[in-house]
Amino acid sequence: MRTPFVAGNWKMNMLQSTGVELAKALAAVKPAGQVEVAVCPPFVYLASVKQAINSSHVKLGAQNVYFEAKGAFTGEISCEMLKDVGCEYVILGHSERRHILGENDKMINAKVKAAIGAGLKPILCVGELLEERDANKTESVIETQLTGGLEGLTADQLKTLVIAYEPVWAIGTGRTASPEQAQDVHQFIRNWLTGKFGNGFAQSVRIQYGGSVKGDNAEQLMSKPDVDGALVGGASLKADDFLKIIDGALAAKK
Ligand code: 13P
Repeated sequence: MRTPFVAGNWKMNMLQSTGVELAKALAAVKPAGQVEVAVCPPFVYLASVKQAINSSHVKLGAQNVYFEAKGAFTGEISCEMLKDVGCEYVILGHSERRHILGENDKMINAKVKAAIGAGLKPILCVGELLEERDANKTESVIETQLTGGLEGLTADQLKTLVIAYEPVWAIGTGRTASPEQAQDVHQFIRNWLTGKFGNGFAQSVRIQYGGSVKGDNAEQLMSKPDVDGALVGGASLKADDFLKIIDGALAAKK
């Protein structure tokens, strides 16, 4: 049985005061069942958000990390630094980093390896562009991203892996994938994991859906058997909206 996992990716939003306020509001509402909850604020607010959620059920994640351990990498942040401020998770390979900041699978793979080596749990994002979906290339794009991102890693090393399927055309557009579209790709991902690492491993990996998840579509999406949670952007910026999604996860998986 996979514990559903709902994480908020704040992206480049919030300031210290609003972020801390949001984190406190989330920490104050303990879910009435089995669901894991995390927030992923911008780097500069990780420490203050950690303080706000301390000793609550809410976990901390970062939105990115650099793969080198330390040294002359101006502007970058290491895994050890993220651990040091209390991060448990790190989002890797988000489509905005792939498509706006130019990250490729090789770099993302180095980041996955660094994160695992440092004891951070990676949330590896995969997803196709609209033109790739329209050209029936969704599965081959996802397969390339999974193969590249997980290259050289064993099932044992990937015990803490979370995958987020985020179709790029659904991110921030209000156009969410239908539950059936999400389930199809999630099932494809789980089958791929089975082929590569075995059924026991594949059944244990949580696959989140991301892309315009809201309070009113969360339960439907997560009621699909291979949709194990949500990676939420816009709707994670307001406590009430995010709490509705957490409730949706509980309702879907009860
Ligand atoms: P939205 O929920 O704003 O569509 O963003 C999804 C996302 O990119 C989460 O990582």
